[in-house]
Amino acid sequence: MARYSLVLLSLSTLALALSANSEDLPTNYEYYTDGGISSGLNANQTYFTLNGKNITIFSGTFHYFRVHSAYWRDRLRKIRAAGLNAVETYVSWNLHEFYSGQYDFGKGGSDFQDFLDVEQFLKIAQEEDLFVLLRSGPYICAEWEFGGLPAWLLREDGIKVRTNDEVYLGYVSRYFKELFKILAPLQFTNGGPIIAFQVENEYGNTYNSDSDYLHSLIKILKENNVTELLYTSDPPSAGTRGALPNEILMTANFNTDAKDNLDKLNGFQTNKPTMTMEYWSGWFDHFTETHHTVSVETYQQVYEDILSYPSSVNIYMFVGSTNFGFTAGAGYDSEGLENWGLQPTVTSYDYDAPISESGAIIDKYNATAELIAKYNPIKTRLPDVPASEQTGVYADIEIKQQILLSEIIDSYPDKIASENLISMEKLPINNNSGQNFGYVVYRKTNLTLNSNALLLISGYVRDHVLVLVNGKLINPVLSSLDDLNNFGYWRLKDSNITLTDEALQNATLDLVVENLSRNNFGTLDRFQQFKGLIDEVLIDGVSIKNWEIVPLEFKKSWNRNLTGWHEIQNKVATPALYRGTFEVAVPDVDTYINVQDWVKGIVIVNGFVLGRVFAVGPQQALYLPKALLAVNNEIIIFEHFTASDYIKFSADPIYGLGNSIKQ
Ligand SMILES: *[C@@H]1O[C@H](CO)[C@@H](O)[C@H](O)[C@H]1NC(C)=O
Ligand SMILES: *[C@@H]1O[C@H](CO)[C@@H](O)[C@H](O)[C@H]1NC(C)=O
Ligand SMILES: *[C@@H]1O[C@H](CO)[C@@H](O)[C@H](O)[C@H]1NC(C)=O
Ligand SMILES: *[C@@H]1O[C@H](CO)[C@@H](O)[C@H](O)[C@H]1NC(C)=O
Ligand SMILES: *[C@@H]1O[C@H](CO)[C@@H](O)[C@H](O)[C@H]1NC(C)=O
Ligand SMILES: *[C@@H]1O[C@H](CO)[C@@H](O)[C@H](O)[C@H]1NC(C)=O
Ligand SMILES: *[C@@H]1O[C@H](CO)[C@@H](O)[C@H](O)[C@H]1NC(C)=O
Ligand SMILES: *[C@@H]1O[C@H](CO)[C@@H](O)[C@H](O)[C@H]1NC(C)=O
Ligand SMILES: *[C@@H]1O[C@H](CO)[C@@H](O)[C@H](O)[C@H]1NC(C)=O
Ligand SMILES: *[C@@H]1O[C@H](CO)[C@@H](O)[C@H](O)[C@H]1NC(C)=O
Repeated sequence: MARYSLVLLSLSTLALALSANSEDLPTNYEYYTDGGISSGLNANQTYFTLNGKNITIFSGTFHYFRVHSAYWRDRLRKIRAAGLNAVETYVSWNLHEFYSGQYDFGKGGSDFQDFLDVEQFLKIAQEEDLFVLLRSGPYICAEWEFGGLPAWLLREDGIKVRTNDEVYLGYVSRYFKELFKILAPLQFTNGGPIIAFQVENEYGNTYNSDSDYLHSLIKILKENNVTELLYTSDPPSAGTRGALPNEILMTANFNTDAKDNLDKLNGFQTNKPTMTMEYWSGWFDHFTETHHTVSVETYQQVYEDILSYPSSVNIYMFVGSTNFGFTAGAGYDSEGLENWGLQPTVTSYDYDAPISESGAIIDKYNATAELIAKYNPIKTRLPDVPASEQTGVYADIEIKQQILLSEIIDSYPDKIASENLISMEKLPINNNSGQNFGYVVYRKTNLTLNSNALLLISGYVRDHVLVLVNGKLINPVLSSLDDLNNFGYWRLKDSNITLTDEALQNATLDLVVENLSRNNFGTLDRFQQFKGLIDEVLIDGVSIKNWEIVPLEFKKSWNRNLTGWHEIQNKVATPALYRGTFEVAVPDVDTYINVQDWVKGIVIVNGFVLGRVFAVGPQQALYLPKALLAVNNEIIIFEHFTASDYIKFSADPIYGLGNSIKQ
């Protein structure tokens, strides 16, 4: 880090007066570390200081685990080029500790390894002249599967996540020990970029005012040599429920009524700086909703209201991104009944942020840059805005090969025998960590079925079930939004379907259950979330026992090793995998896979699960970064219902209903 002399400082101040963006200005780090580092971020008065100098934090959120590492530097430079002086990120426990006691912080062998080198991310952030606000959770919400908690925690009977429960805190301690080996040396006062750490996340929204739990987390952080400033983050409407007022800094989350919200925040604590930790630049989409956007005018107005208050501020999200694979979370409709209220989130996390999911700059980006230039009295050197690459399309791919889902189940080698149904989490697989993601099949063979035999699934399906009798799909093909209120989906309690018109001997029944993601938000009763089937299944009133269970996790190595591809036999009302291949000299553009002609399922690119297809919308195109492409490419679509003849691309996102849905 270059030292910066007082003479230069006054020269550059002069230079600034003559020409903005002068090369002579100090960098952010030069400005704040001139003369050596003696203290970190300090909140002991109504304004922040960093290393003894006044600082207003102009931060933007960028979740490294939602963007392929090949793009990290581009996005971070764009953040800095807009004038921001900090980047804020969560840390995703469920990806970093993918099985109990097994970690991936980059090159750890999990399917997400290219997204997980958090140390590299933080070093690039520093190289790109940004400070870091670090939100290590353990719970992160983030519209992320189970709010970032690993699903395998649920294997512990009676575990109470996000409380002072010893079993839960034991797992937190073990994980934090690994995580903070990486983070602690990267604190500002150790010469790194991290200037503050968040404790938990919106704990007030649990309505479980538990200061013992927050103190336990602080204790664990301190045991791991965390010395920088700590803070909590809540909407001011939650009061002080999730906070330790006047003990650690409170910050505010909102997207409207800046003055009211910040007045409220300042009423909770005395002699503290004002910090907006989440100013929501846009919003996310649940399936069936209309795509959310926030106009640049509204965005700009509220941002200026915050800056002029005055308040430091982090824009959530500044970089739009993606819930690749099965990582999207779910919200719930609090008016809803139990599972009825489940609201699974789509794969895109574009969020209508200033930098889009594909890395493009939208009008909100310029609006942000203009306001920071106006409100930050401290002028530092900024890079030029990196040029954004154009997105494009590849040629349509005709699909010629298929494997029926029933063939996959038939040939699956290690079916798990069990008298009773077992939830995904409790399956004895993955080194005793259970199944985190995907689908699970419950098969019952040698059934004698009467004519009009009635299948009844007690409780709720978690979250979508396909019923196959002798390999043939019984459910109706999804064709309207109202179908989600009927058999096969999570909303209907104690649902039933007729299995056969005629009596059958030696029949095979498959219940293929898709986990549409765990709730990530709210009161603690919502965090006991087993997926698959856990209640009784009856046929003509008789409880069925002795199942064979097949976990369909769609792991990369499994996807890459699929065999048995054949010509397409039937693509109507038939759950099956479809395969298309294409070759490109150089994969030179990012693109989107257009899924308007598909109904429901997932898309897999070169073994990596890209995300979900669901004709109920609003997302109808899945972002495909070229970093996931090679010269020879394979795309597999698992379609639950009826397939298209082609895989098509789009240069832009597509929103609305799929073509199979009656308008
Ligand atoms: C600021 O307050 C914290 C306690 O909240 C204290 O540990 C620290 O020494 C104070 N720093 C200064 C510079 O007064
Ligand atoms: C730091 O900010 C405070 C509050 O705005 C102000 O009173 C003080 O003069 C500033 N200090 C410097 C060195 O600019
Ligand atoms: C199973 O997990 C333990 C840690 O919990 C680890 O030490 C061991 O290597 C894992 N075994 C395999 C086969 O991955
Ligand atoms: C904390 O820092 C001390 C002193 O540098 C070191 O001895 C100790 O191992 C560190 N603890 C952890 C958990 O990193
Ligand atoms: C943002 O500003 C730059 C430089 O003034 C301009 O070239 C670009 O077109 C603007 N972009 C948008 C989306 O307004
Ligand atoms: C299949 O079911 C029939 C009728 O219940 C029974 O007689 C037969 O033993 C069963 N076969 C096997 C292999 O379980
Ligand atoms: C089967 O479901 C239908 C439609 O929800 C319902 O009206 C009927 O009562 C159910 N039958 C049984 C036996 O539960
Ligand atoms: C019963 O069905 C299974 C699976 O389809 C088949 O392998 C077996 O031969 C059948 N048994 C009889 C007695 O039909
Ligand atoms: C369901 O999938 C989500 C990811 O979408 C995962 O977090 C959760 O653990 C899964 N639940 C089960 C029971 O598999
Ligand atoms: C196929 O499976 C084998 C054995 O499970 C594994 O070693 C290999 O990496 C897999 N192939 C791919 C391309 O993932």
